[in-house]
Formats: sequence, structure tokens, C-alpha cells
Amino acid sequence: MATLQRRFLVKTLFGLESVLADEIRSLGGSQVEEHNRAVSTVGDMDLCYSLNYQCRTALAVLMPLHEGTVPDEQALYDLVKQVPWWEYFSLDKTFIIDVVSYADQFTNSHFLALKCKDAIVDQFREKYNRRPSISKGADIKINVFIKGDHCIISLDTSGDSLFKRGYRLQTGRAPINEVLAAGLIYLSGWDQKTPLVDPMCGSGTIIMEAALMSSRVAPQKGRDHFSFMHLNSFERDRWMQIREKAHDAELSNTPSLIGRDLDRHTLNLAKSNAANAMITSIKWEKGDFFNYRPQSKNGVMIFNPPYDERMPLQDAITFYKQIGDVLKTHFTGWEAWIISSHLQAVKRVGLKPSRRIPLFNGPLECRFVHFEMYEGTRAK
Ligand SMILES: C[S@@+](CC[C@H](N)C(=O)[O-])C[C@H]1O[C@@H](n2cnc3c(N)ncnc32)[C@H](O)[C@@H]1O
Repeated sequence: MATLQRRFLVKTLFGLESVLADEIRSLGGSQVEEHNRAVSTVGDMDLCYSLNYQCRTALAVLMPLHEGTVPDEQALYDLVKQVPWWEYFSLDKTFIIDVVSYADQFTNSHFLALKCKDAIVDQFREKYNRRPSISKGADIKINVFIKGDHCIISLDTSGDSLFKRGYRLQTGRAPINEVLAAGLIYLSGWDQKTPLVDPMCGSGTIIMEAALMSSRVAPQKGRDHFSFMHLNSFERDRWMQIREKAHDAELSNTPSLIGRDLDRHTLNLAKSNAANAMITSIKWEKGDFFNYRPQSKNGVMIFNPPYDERMPLQDAITFYKQIGDVLKTHFTGWEAWIISSHLQAVKRVGLKPSRRIPLFNGPLECRFVHFEMYEGTRAK
């Protein structure tokens, strides 16, 4: 029996669209198209469950239900009411509406959310004489996106954002988002075999994402709640099968993974986060990067040094210049990837970058820069 094919819009961070598209293809999504901070695909609800469970670079999996023109609030109310909501969820579920509006005719997105809520509540009342409740940690999350006078109404099948893997109990002072960390690893092209080091690992996000990735552990293994579980169409057996198949694909051998940091307290946070995720493959080392020397002939470093923003530096230019000196002097045969928003300081690393990828770390515009240190290395 052919299963219903739907279109999904998977949200991600700026710059990660291509790696997310690859992830979606590998999970069997068809008609994969990249957009700005999102990738669309077509598939059945099994694909929806897999995208939520297994995509490392997805923030949310939206299922568009309806779209139309909304010149004013009444038109928005009418459009929302045209969706047969009772087909998607039942009266006993709670729901919440998230409105994102880039429209001159609307100024107050809180008011728009109320208008959408009224449309849904009125529809249930007319049909059942009762209404579902609104709640913050709601079962069902509805996403309303308005640009100009065009509106797309979707179910957010994820619920809580997918960067919340559940393993990070505590963070350091400037933690990187898990989705960005996974994206950095994919963008680096790391082969998942060569030794990988994060020499300024903070709470350990990058190296933990690398551990999960290289052992094929699903990023959401520690999470047991997604919004799709509250939909009328939810098939628990199918969901359990997808989880089991993912677990069967896990690998026990992992490459050498090292997380280092100068600060003992931060390193202890990283260790307890890893213990919480049941990751045992990372070697944790306390140490100053400037005294770090390689223990293997080749390797990859991916790191997120302080940018002199959330984490101040006495002299950012000298700090980054010294990073370059260590790389050039001691790490021949290695490659290093650095993400930073301090573009002037990155230039002082003093090596010619072979790639510079624009990304955002939260609101900060960054570059993810690749340096290769080979014999007679290319000085800038
Ligand atoms: C921006 S934070 C890294 C955050 C990390 N990616 C995370 O997700 O938590 C930078 C880290 O560099 C560390 N650090 C600063 N100077 C260092 C040095 N000379 N050697 C090693 N680590 C250093 C800091 O202790 C801090 O934890």
C-alpha cells in the first residue's frame, strides 16, 4: 500500500543547508531542495520520524499544511480556520502557536498568534462544543510564517528545537550550539577515522558531536519527546522500528578523539556532559594550547577559540598569531579548522587559508577557516 507522501521543510542554521541536504538524502528523502536556512524534501511519515531522530544539522522539521494570502488579520483567521485541525490532533492535546512575521501590515506577532489560536479554538468548538487548551510546553506546536502577504501554516513535528540533544547538562561560558557543532564537523570533511582534536573544547560540544557521529549514534537518542508523537496519525510501531534500526547501525569502534581545555572547571563540565550522553570514547586533557604537541603524525583540529566577545582576551591579535605559530611550528601534516567572529585576528594566524566559510554563531557573523600545515607550509 502506497503511503501518503508529504512535503517537509527542515530548518537549519545559515551555511549548513548543503550538509543538511546530504543528511536528508542519506535518510531517503526525495526532491531535496536547499533554501535559505532550510531544506525541503518529500517523503512519508517514516521519513518525518527519521529526520527528527537522525538529522544532526536540523533545528526543526516542519510539515506545511496550508498557505495563502493574508492582507489583514481577518484573512489570517480565515486561512487558519480552513485547515481541518481535528484531523491532525484531538481535543485532549494542548497546543501552542509560533508566529514569525515579516509583513508590513502586521506589527504585533503576539496579537497574530491570538488570532490564529481563536481560529483553531472556534473550529473545535463548532465541531465538538469543546476546545483544546493552550500551554507553553504544549503537545502540538503550530508554526505560522508570514512574508509580505503570503502565509504558510505548518505543524512543527519536532516540538522543542532539535539542537537540544539532552546530553548537555551544563555549559561553559560561550558554548556552541550542537547543530552548529555537527555542521562544522560535516563542513570540515573529516573522514571520521583520522584523529580529531578540539584543543579549546569548553563544555565539549564539538568533540561530543564528533563522538556521536563517528559511532553512528542518533543525535536524539537521549530524547523521548517529539511533537509528532501527539498527532492522530502517529504510528508507534513504525517509530519504534526506526529507532531500533538506528540503534542497530551503531558502531563500537571510534577514532581517536581528544578534548582539551586550559580551564579545569570547564573540562569537568565537559566530562560530566559526556558521561550523561554515555560517551566514553573521548580522551579529556587539561592543558594550554600553546604547549600542546601532537601525539600522531597527522590529525584534524576543529576549534572555537575565544572571540573576545562573550569571552574576553587581553590581546586578541597576539592570541590568534600565537595559535598560528604553534600550528606552523609543531603540526606539520595536520589540518586545522577555526571558527571565529574576530575576522581581523583570524588573519593574523599567518597561514594561507584554503577555505573560508561564512557562518553565524548565534548573532555573531563568523568565518570557519581551514588551514593545512604541510612540509614547507604555505606562509601567507
Ligand atoms: C569559546 S570557548 C569554547 C566553547 C566550546 N566550543 C563549547 O561548546 O563549550 C573557548 C574555550 O577556550 C579555552 N581556552 C582559552 N585559551 C586557551 C588556551 N590557551 N589553551 C586551551 N584552552 C583555552 C577556554 O577555557 C574556553 O573553554
